[in-house]
Amino acid sequence: MVLTNPFTILAETVPPVFMQWFVIVMAILVVTGTLLDIIHKKNVKYFFENAKKAKLSAKKTLSSGEKISVISKAIVKDIATTSELGAGKRRAAHLLGMYGTILFWIGSAIMIFCYSAQSSETPSIWPIIWHVGAIMTVLGGSWFWFFLRVDVYSEAQPWYRIIKADLFVLALIASSLFGLIWSYLQSLNLNDRWDDKVFLVLFIVSNLVLFGGVYWSKFAHMFYKPGAAIQKNLAEADGSRDNLPPAADAPEKFGLGIKREEPKNY
Ligand code: HEM
Repeated sequence: MVLTNPFTILAETVPPVFMQWFVIVMAILVVTGTLLDIIHKKNVKYFFENAKKAKLSAKKTLSSGEKISVISKAIVKDIATTSELGAGKRRAAHLLGMYGTILFWIGSAIMIFCYSAQSSETPSIWPIIWHVGAIMTVLGGSWFWFFLRVDVYSEAQPWYRIIKADLFVLALIASSLFGLIWSYLQSLNLNDRWDDKVFLVLFIVSNLVLFGGVYWSKFAHMFYKPGAAIQKNLAEADGSRDNLPPAADAPEKFGLGIKREEPKNY
């Protein structure tokens, strides 16, 4: 199963061009959902106005070279490792899910656009990347959803309480999990059995929910967060600090209470 491109087998019943159009429609849904979200929340407008305001209090003008160096550092240090989440379980779960999703999506695009024709032979690295990516996404996403999300971790809500904010993580887990089960059942060659078709339908529906739900879900954070991390680093480098006061030049004293329990509130 792990060495088989599931889309080549699917091509026996569904023409590859259908699959390719499906991926293109999903990409259009992401762009449309994100643009609608930006218009509705006015967050990008606020972001640029705030950056312009902060620039007025900049203590130095950064050269293009300095800007490139600050941005590269932000990409490597803050974005690629999601350092905002600090050290610990929250960051580990996020990295597992984030890189799993990236592998799963790249694997899907390559296998659908380059190797879905029945006559083509897929290099085994791509199905491996696809399956490993899906497993990582299910593990990272489930770890977050069952144990680490604020409702459960900080507010003692039961894990099965589902709200709108869970749309993104649940659709993400569902699409990877149904994809894995579909691939497994398809590899069993069940012929006239319906099992793999049911999971193919679930795989399609969960992708429609994931990519069609961008406007209502937290999907677009994967574009906003990197932008905010770059702006924060630029504001630190030019001394404007986003108009925030400088860090106090004094030892950190929070009293003994701080040691009583691990901080859990967000
Ligand atoms: C493919 C890219 C990404 C995926 C699949 C992804 C996935 C997720 C998921 C599933 C959640 C949990 C959402 C929820 O609260 O229900 C989340 C939260 C979060 N993500 Fe991402 N993410 C991605 C990229 C990024 C990037 C690039 C950053 C930062 C630079 C980032 C920072 C965060 C933060 C700060 C949270 C809140 C975590 C928490 O509440 O503990 N994410 N992400």
